[in-house]
Amino acid sequence: MEAIQIPDPSWGSDLANIILDLEKLRTKQLGGDVPPYIFFQLKDIFQILETLGSARIEGNNTTLSEYVEKIIVDGSNDESSDEIINLEKAIHFIEEHTNETTQFDRAFISEIHKILTDGLTPPPNGEGSRYSGALRQHDVSIKSSGHTPPNHFVLQQYFDAFISFINESHKEQYQLLMVAIAHHRFEHIHPFDNGNGRMGRLLNYAFLIKLGFQVKNGRIINPSSVFYTDRDKYYDMLSKADSLKDSDVLEWCEYFLLGLKNEIEKIDSLLDQNYVKKQILQPALKIARENEHITTQEFKILTYLVNKEEMAMKSEELSKLGITDSKKKSITMAKLRDKKMLISTTKGGRIYTIHFVNNYLLRAVMQVLKKNGFVSDFLNNGEEV
Ligand SMILES: Nc1ncnc2c1ncn2[C@@H]1O[C@H](COP(=O)(O)OP(=O)(O)OP(=O)(O)O)[C@@H](O)[C@H]1O
Ligand SMILES: [Mg+2]
Repeated sequence: MEAIQIPDPSWGSDLANIILDLEKLRTKQLGGDVPPYIFFQLKDIFQILETLGSARIEGNNTTLSEYVEKIIVDGSNDESSDEIINLEKAIHFIEEHTNETTQFDRAFISEIHKILTDGLTPPPNGEGSRYSGALRQHDVSIKSSGHTPPNHFVLQQYFDAFISFINESHKEQYQLLMVAIAHHRFEHIHPFDNGNGRMGRLLNYAFLIKLGFQVKNGRIINPSSVFYTDRDKYYDMLSKADSLKDSDVLEWCEYFLLGLKNEIEKIDSLLDQNYVKKQILQPALKIARENEHITTQEFKILTYLVNKEEMAMKSEELSKLGITDSKKKSITMAKLRDKKMLISTTKGGRIYTIHFVNNYLLRAVMQVLKKNGFVSDFLNNGEEV
């Protein structure tokens, strides 16, 4: 079995420039002036988008609005939500177990595949697997693709070559190319009976964490997002690279890495306090008020809070908004806490910040993110969030 090779892009090509730009982003510790308690909520929202995006590649019919509703009301269990829950668990597993020295060996990949397919119906009827965590024991074809993945008798060798490729120490200038090529190669080999797409997209995330693409201590990069915007394009580019010709493989790399670069630049703006205030939270509060999910008074309080430098407040400050009676102050604050729209910035503390990930504010925030181009259209099926 031949080792997987990385072709050299030509110096001065678009691809080479994209890699140089990404390298700058790798060492630049992204991290603006958004307080951590706001940033981590945004991270949670991006995780939702990542998960839903990946689940919907195959046509899981859960739309963003349904999913948001489920989070808000905490309900319903069917296979498509189980698939989404599994993806979330797998992301969590990766974040727990990936650092600069992680080896992505067979056990690591097997564990993720088990999490992804846990409890789901095996193909052809569901998104589970007949061999959770183990390589397929029969031949497969890929829907609407001319490429036939390796015969199951020789699959083990192909898989071993893949494992060595992703764990080899590649020189810095080849590391991002490795990530791009690994995704295609994984799909090309199609080691599992199902879940290859989901697995491959999660591996992108794991590789980037290992390479040091981090934002503060949390990671909100959604490395596969370029695939979610246009599934046909994703499949076309994979198909083209299936020839394994250097030029086609490099074209795949350019497609993938340009998407990644755009994603990271977009995320960068989310760390800018001014942007988060003016372009996300203020408009979201307006929407929540229009939809009567908050009262005029609550709107005033939350807007006041969001506009503050530290994006947090004490109940005493309500005097500034005309609520002077201290009993009235605590009732007003308690009401917002009950609605889960206020939480303390520290456990049991008396300083409160806005909370928008598990209540009706989430819907408004999603709407604004969508308007600002953070949400792929296909997550919505043309509906309003
Ligand atoms: N022409 C192609 N060449 C290589 N891989 C392809 C091609 N077309 C599609 N694929 C990959 O195959 C995946 C589908 O394989 P599989 O059904 O095993 O994965 P899944 O995770 O169950 O599904 P999905 O990715 O659709 O959610 C696609 O997501 C894509 O990554
Ligand atoms: Mg499938």
